[in-house]
Amino acid sequence: MFELPKYRRILITGANGLLGQALVERLSHQPSYDVLATSHDNAPKLRHQSCGYIPMDILETEEMRHIFIDFAPDVVVHCAAMTMVDACETQRDLCWQLNVGAVEQLVRLCRTFGTRLIHLSTDFIFDGEAGPYDEKARPNPLSYYGRTKLAAENAVRTLKNDQWALVRTILVYGTGQKLMRRNIATWLIGQLDAGKTIRLVTDQWRTPTYVHDLADGIERLIRFRKAGVWNIAGREMISIFDFGKAIAQTLGFDANLIEPTNSNTFTQPAKRPLKSGLLILKAESEIGYKPKPIPYNIHDMIKRDAVLRTETDEA
Ligand SMILES: NC(=O)c1ccc[n+]([C@@H]2O[C@H](COP(=O)([O-])OP(=O)(O)OC[C@H]3O[C@@H](n4cnc5c(N)ncnc54)[C@H](OP(=O)(O)O)[C@@H]3O)[C@@H](O)[C@H]2O)c1
Repeated sequence: MFELPKYRRILITGANGLLGQALVERLSHQPSYDVLATSHDNAPKLRHQSCGYIPMDILETEEMRHIFIDFAPDVVVHCAAMTMVDACETQRDLCWQLNVGAVEQLVRLCRTFGTRLIHLSTDFIFDGEAGPYDEKARPNPLSYYGRTKLAAENAVRTLKNDQWALVRTILVYGTGQKLMRRNIATWLIGQLDAGKTIRLVTDQWRTPTYVHDLADGIERLIRFRKAGVWNIAGREMISIFDFGKAIAQTLGFDANLIEPTNSNTFTQPAKRPLKSGLLILKAESEIGYKPKPIPYNIHDMIKRDAVLRTETDEA
């Protein structure tokens, strides 16, 4: 006999972002979930979803408290964050407020209202000396963004053991409606389509994650009421250069437009881990998480993008 999910009311923060949109799509059409999407903006970017939307600034504790009182969420999936790694390096106060201060407030609210917190974290908490990493690996962030995400993890861990889950993910790609920032796949496809030459690093290794695989993994954590630390990522450990080549080849672009380079040639404010990557054995074996291969996901992304464009044209 299947047990009905106990947790039904799901509050999503950052619902207009890359992951937030995929989660809204994944959860809102399932009758077992009552979803409230929240984000910065006055309106949702993704239309035609069966869920409520309300603006919520994660820096406004009172605003969050009122939404907790009105909606009484069983689970919060916290996707909102300052995610631009170089901006985090240069705008440290804002980054700390968004990535740590807001999480501390959410933790307090979750404790008061008995709400489970699923918090999104990152491979950037590691130094990239010995990836791919499992859930027990020791963090050592190189960037300010990584430090704030680690501090947030520690804040989340102060909740009772069955009340929190940390989802670590990495190099998330996919499409969405009017996204504020490009991800590696959308950027790369745009460049290739314009016939531009691109230089990608051969010395940074990742397990790139398709956003809809990630949303599926998070839904499983909710459905099976899992707590603790979970790596939810792609399965292929690949350099960013080879990831770019794989995208080009999948879509029939000229892969020679992608040239190899290495991290020393870039002067970016934030240092990136070289060999990160996340091992997903725990999620595969305990919650049946099955990320799909990169070519499959790239084709899926193109199909979804075509649908989103049609919706934008109709608006
Ligand atoms: N993308 C990756 O490669 C990656 C990798 C590892 C971990 N993660 C983690 O996964 C999570 C989701 O990432 P993502 O790629 O979906 O991020 P994203 O596309 O940048 O979305 C973040 C969302 O947070 C919202 N937000 C920012 N400040 C806010 C505020 N004060 N109040 C309410 N909402 C606010 C943004 O709204 P606006 O659009 O209005 O700014 C945006 O919709 C983050 O915690 C990130 O650290 C991401």
